[in-house]
This record gives sequence, C-alpha cells and structure tokens, in this order.
Amino acid sequence: MSKKKLVGFFFERNYRVTPQLLEEIPSDFNFENFLEKNNNINRSEEVIVLDNELFKKLFNFEEESIVEDNITASVEVISSYVDKPKKREVKDFVIYMKVRYNALKKILLQRSELQNAISISRLASKQAKEYVSIIGFVNSKDQTRNGHYILELEDPTGITKILISAKNKELIELMDEVVLDELVGINGTLGENIVFANEFYFPDTPLKEYKKCKDDVSAVFISDLHIGSTLFAKKEFENFIMWVNGNYGNEEQKEVARKVKYIILPGDLIAGVGIHPLQEKELLIKDIYKQYEEVARYFSLIRKDIKIVVCAGNHDALRIAEPQPKLSEDFAKSLYNLKNVIVVSNPGVVKIHKMFDVLLYHGFSFDYYVNNVSSLRDAGGYENSVAVMEFFLKKRHFAPTHMSSLYIPDIEKDPLIIENIPDFFVTGHFHYDIKIGSYKNVSLIGCSSFEYMSGFQEKLGHTNICWGTAVVANLKTRAMSIVDFREKEKTL
Ligand SMILES: [Fe+2]
Ligand SMILES: [Fe+2]
Repeated sequence: MSKKKLVGFFFERNYRVTPQLLEEIPSDFNFENFLEKNNNINRSEEVIVLDNELFKKLFNFEEESIVEDNITASVEVISSYVDKPKKREVKDFVIYMKVRYNALKKILLQRSELQNAISISRLASKQAKEYVSIIGFVNSKDQTRNGHYILELEDPTGITKILISAKNKELIELMDEVVLDELVGINGTLGENIVFANEFYFPDTPLKEYKKCKDDVSAVFISDLHIGSTLFAKKEFENFIMWVNGNYGNEEQKEVARKVKYIILPGDLIAGVGIHPLQEKELLIKDIYKQYEEVARYFSLIRKDIKIVVCAGNHDALRIAEPQPKLSEDFAKSLYNLKNVIVVSNPGVVKIHKMFDVLLYHGFSFDYYVNNVSSLRDAGGYENSVAVMEFFLKKRHFAPTHMSSLYIPDIEKDPLIIENIPDFFVTGHFHYDIKIGSYKNVSLIGCSSFEYMSGFQEKLGHTNICWGTAVVANLKTRAMSIVDFREKEKTL
C-alpha cells in the first residue's frame, strides 16, 4: 500500500519509479515521513526515470547524512526595489540627477579632506591661488598633447575646468579610472577659470568591520543557471544539488556541504526567450513559465533548512532596465511557492544569519565598463570580475555613466547607488571563471555559471567561458573556497 502511495506521489510529479527501486526499498522505510518531508517537490516537465541510483542520490534514504544542527538560517531583506508605475517625463531625469548628486555628495563629504567643499558658482568670489575644494559631475575628460588632463566638472550651480598636471604621476594614473558623469571631489589651487588639482577623490568605500559569527555555517554562491537552455550544465547542477544534500563528493567536501545554510544566486535563473537572435536554437524549454517551473523543481530538491536568495538577471523575464524589480509573481509563481526561497530586486541587499549584509547585483552594466575603461581591461577585463567590483565600490554606483546601463529614473532615491557597504558583494553575468577577492574587508565574489559556452558567446569572442563551480564562504572564519562540480575534470 505504501509503495503504491510512493509511486503515485512520484507519478503526479512526472517521475517514473522503476520496479527495481521498489524492490530495494528497505522494509523499515518510513513512507509517511518521506512523503511529508518531500511534499513540495515540483513537477518535472520531462519524464524522469527514478531508479535506485538517482533515488539514493536525490533523497538518500539509506542514511541521514545531514545531521540536524538546530541552527536556523535567517534572511532579512534589507533593500529590494519596488517599482512605482508612473509615466516618466523629462523633468524626472533632471530631478533624478539632483537626487544622485545629493546622495553621492553626502558620501564624499564624509571625508575630512572635502569638509570645506564649496559650490562651483562660489569660485568666482575666491582669490587667485586660493586653495579650494569642489565636488562635481565629470562632464568631459581630455588629455592634452603634453600629457595633462583637463576635466570639466559641473554641479547644480555651474561649470569649471580642472587641470591635472602630467607631473602629478599619482593623479595621472587615476585618470584612467575616471568615467563620464560620475561625481568626484577635487582640492586644488584656483587659477583663472581653472582649478589646478592637487588631490582627487572618488566617493569610495570606507574600511568595513570584518565580521565573523559564532556558528560554523556557510553561504554558497552560484549564478547564471540559464535553465531552459540546451546548454544548461544539467549534470553539474545536479551534482551541486547532491552535494548540498550531503550525497556527493569526498568526506571533506561532504563536511563542507553540511555547514551550508544559504545559497545566494545573483540572476539569470532561466535562459529566457528571445534574448538574442540565435537563441531559439539553443532553447530546450521555450516557455518562460515552464523554465521557472524547472528552476523551482530543482530548488525543491534542495534540503529545506537552506535558504535560497535570488535576484533577476538580464535573461530573466523582466525589463532589463535597472534596477530590475523582483521576479514577476506571475511568471515565477512556482518559485514563490517555495517557502525557503527569497526573491529580491537587482540590485538587492539581504542580511543573512542576522549579521552579514549581502549585496546581489547581476552585473549587466559591467560590460560597458570592461569595454571602455582601460584600467579594467589591463586588469584582465572579463577574466577579472573582482577588479570590476572594486571599481563600483569606488564609484558607489552601478551605472555612473549615462547609457552604460538602461535605467529608470526614480525621483525619490537613486537605487543604483551603493549606499550601505555590504559584507559580501556577489555578481554573476560574466560566465567566466570564478573570482574571489576582498576590498576594504568587503568579500567580493564573481560567480561563474551553470551553462556551457553558447554559439553567441563564441561569436562575441568570449572563448573562456566556465561553468559548474560554486564559492563557499564560511561565516565563522570568512574563508572562501571553490567547489568544482565538473565531471570531466575529475576533481570530485
Ligand atoms: Fe548569464
Ligand atoms: Fe547575464
């Protein structure tokens, strides 16, 4: 009778139980308990043959390898953008810039060096050679034949030119990182309609307190599943799920998996539909609802004491203009039905384990900066997501240059400003090898993907695409490590 129930349970979810599996289920197997525990397993789109081996891997009825440790995962949403539908007018862009100016100026004014900053219109009342301090948006940046840089800076009261002498090697080096429309602070000597810069400041990030918690628990960071794509790294992702459930890897790796309480995933959950011209041929599931249902089916296999935090990416079923609000409750209904999944906007911030702020940003604006900022190119470009993340922590903004990313002007608050400094900053989007690093005690994690290289990526010259890896951050020690789920590498 109980075996029949089990068959029915799986049949409803499109799994076919093999006779051999039924035969080998031990006589003391607690069917009621099993069905209750796994009640929220979602329906599979394709028929899945559930043989002995797969059953053991996914549900592990032989031994309970994850010992209940009574440590409860806790996720609090700190910042998640909610769209206020409104017709945007030209004046909204003007107000938006004013809002951005005030917020970033406030950050710059936290520096003692800029305490005496004056508005640009007040330069006219100052004497020549007087030491002045100003804050403004970079309107233009030009290099003269002699190697000097001339910047045009603007604030709501006026415009002035700034000269950075070729002799000041330190500042000249910084000029590489200066991008149009960002807000910067300058101290220097007043000349005739020009300021000779001596000091130059980005809003930047102050040193963050390096927090560690008492519990020996971990957070895992993965990104860019692209479920629905024929190139979805299915095998590797299933290995990942088996690993977090305690059924994959060597003893040491199983021990690491046991401590996992959080999975953080910054976007591109699904392949999406109509994302690029060649995509049609690369889709296994052509329906957005079904793509999310498949994501939910996989998530439903992950042990329930783990909290999963996700935000959208440019492949998800949303506008690509940033910020992207939470995933649509219509398209991604199946995900919202899972109690241990928390959905936030992109960018979005959550507090995990009552202590650590995690900033999720998919990374769509990164392309522009990797392609346009020579210092980022020199640092490795797409190969070095951590350098790009540092760059954004210096700017305190995800899209300082207009048109580097589509954005929707918000007249109350600029949601692309990095207002509070997180403990962890995680991105995806690049699909290159994982990069981990640290800037001012902020742990930086540039995730890889779970998608094999696509023809489109290859065509664009992205030939170093990676997949099938995850970053584990232990919250007690703050140590970060990489787990590799690729089979052919034989790392597990
Ligand atoms: Fe992606
Ligand atoms: Fe992406």
